[in-house]
Amino acid sequence: MIVSPSLLSADFARFGEECAFMQSCSADWLHIDVMDGHFVPNITLGAPVVKAIRGYSDLPFDVHLMISEPLKYVKDFAQAGADIICFHAECDSDIKQTIDKIHSLGCKAGLALKPATPASEALKYKDDLDMILVMTVEPGFGGQSFMDDMLPKLEEISRACEGSSMYIQVDGGIDENTVGKVRAAGANVCVAGSAVFKAEDPAKMIELLKSEN
Ligand code: DX5
Ligand code: ZN
Repeated sequence: MIVSPSLLSADFARFGEECAFMQSCSADWLHIDVMDGHFVPNITLGAPVVKAIRGYSDLPFDVHLMISEPLKYVKDFAQAGADIICFHAECDSDIKQTIDKIHSLGCKAGLALKPATPASEALKYKDDLDMILVMTVEPGFGGQSFMDDMLPKLEEISRACEGSSMYIQVDGGIDENTVGKVRAAGANVCVAGSAVFKAEDPAKMIELLKSEN
């Protein structure tokens, strides 16, 4: 299991140091949540912030775009230092064009699904994608409860991608109690915000998420 701590739960006043700290805790990737106040009812940060923290860690930056028009902004995030750019199937941009644009910028491309969106909306692009993100909460906020009813969708996606190098990522409510379920359903990348940042010992929590069955 690849563990990608969500910086949404980090101390924003010490953002750079938090990236370096996660690396020292053996995080695999860093998950950066970008929200525009339109696609989701919350606003977080943009490409200049990604650029500002890039120098604090050499871990892959896993940028989760919860924005209405990703095609307009993927270039900014690629230039700011993103390695993986994931956007939503429910957005207003052309999906194929956005995937192609992300690849042309030298990044890996991911497609995310809100809880109500069926697996088929990602699977129809599977040959072009590097990652599919199954949201296990409604996007917008950290600290919500894991939705068990997303497990069949996760299983369907894992089955369809069997034998491929697809990253199958889950995001929302992942902790020591839920990671085993998503692992069993085929997830190979987990995002964890509050579980890692609010842990007494974040390094231990990351280790646990990596190994928990
Ligand atoms: C929610 C974000 C998540 C969030 C997860 O919209 O996409 O990445 O930070 O937070 P936890 O792990 O606390 O549910
Ligand atoms: Zn996220």
